[in-house]
Amino acid sequence: MNYTIATLPGDGIGPEIMEQAVAVLHAVEEKYGHHFNFQYGDVGAVAIDHAGDPFPEATFALCRDADAVLFGAIGDPKYDHNPKAKVRPEQGLLTMRKKLGLFANIRPVATFPSLLDKSPLRKHLVENVDFVVIRELTGGSYFGEPRGRSEDGNKAFETNIYSREEIERILKVAFGYARSRRKKLTVVDKANVLVTSRLWREIAQEMAQENRDIKVDYLFVDNAAMQIIQNPGRFDVMVTENMFGDILTDEASVITGSMGLLPSASVGSLTSLFEPVHGSYPQAAGKDIANPLAVILSAAMMLETALILKEEAAMIREAVSKSLEEGFVTEDIGKENARHTTEVGQWIVDYIRR
Ligand code: IPM
Ligand code: MG
Repeated sequence: MNYTIATLPGDGIGPEIMEQAVAVLHAVEEKYGHHFNFQYGDVGAVAIDHAGDPFPEATFALCRDADAVLFGAIGDPKYDHNPKAKVRPEQGLLTMRKKLGLFANIRPVATFPSLLDKSPLRKHLVENVDFVVIRELTGGSYFGEPRGRSEDGNKAFETNIYSREEIERILKVAFGYARSRRKKLTVVDKANVLVTSRLWREIAQEMAQENRDIKVDYLFVDNAAMQIIQNPGRFDVMVTENMFGDILTDEASVITGSMGLLPSASVGSLTSLFEPVHGSYPQAAGKDIANPLAVILSAAMMLETALILKEEAAMIREAVSKSLEEGFVTEDIGKENARHTTEVGQWIVDYIRR
């Protein structure tokens, strides 16, 4: 079959890890007789440099018309220390999410047995961790209006706003995931303080009545943050609003010790986008040392969920697991005998070809 993949390498290590993902997808094409049409676009700091816009119209059109979007990373330190910068690379990501309607961010958190000793938590706590965080991605204080500064500049505010429709559609995704897994859903909010959270909880309770096969529980976000450390094995599917999800997914991504391996999906009305959980790691850019596995696993997630190529996705995952077992890894995982980005990518390609 023919598929069009909008390919957005982005900033920092984005281009070099994306190159490896594309090489792996080429190996899949050859082996299974597909054709992937990679259409490249700019996003982030690189797009500001080229076009003065972190998410140019041309990139939007490319994403809208593709079967799926594969994305590397965004962010450049030259903007981080300048709070007055008029355009920021991150705006590209936010505009992309909004314009493509990517309302559900899906971040699986699962341990790889060969990496357990990299976890900052004790082994017995993380051994059987396998959960998914579903983060609402286009609402809440990230986008709510009004937002801004007072006339004298000494006050600043944003608006945290959610509609019933937005809450229902994300909860629907969450119930669906729970149903396909261990049938447990944890709704994370701050209903003891926030009115938006009370609406979330009210709607979740209504929907729980209609989805009685799913066991639903409710946690305040501060408590959830604690339990991710104390007892992460208790979670199956967690669902939460945009800002809480941002914070909890960073926390969750490190407990497995394999941050450099975690893929994610953002699902929406127009298309779906797949990207590593890690950022643009600018200190490593151009050094051929970054771990390419998260974007390679994001490509696998894309094959499985957007293109429905399950066998091909399983093949990539098998190759990745084997490379870890063999200890053929970049320096973030194996300090001694560390391999380069390109070497790890090539190892995966060779494994698939065999
Ligand atoms: C993420 C990131 C983004 C977010 C930033 C880069 C805007 O932290 O994808 O989690 O806050 O959503
Ligand atoms: Mg984040």
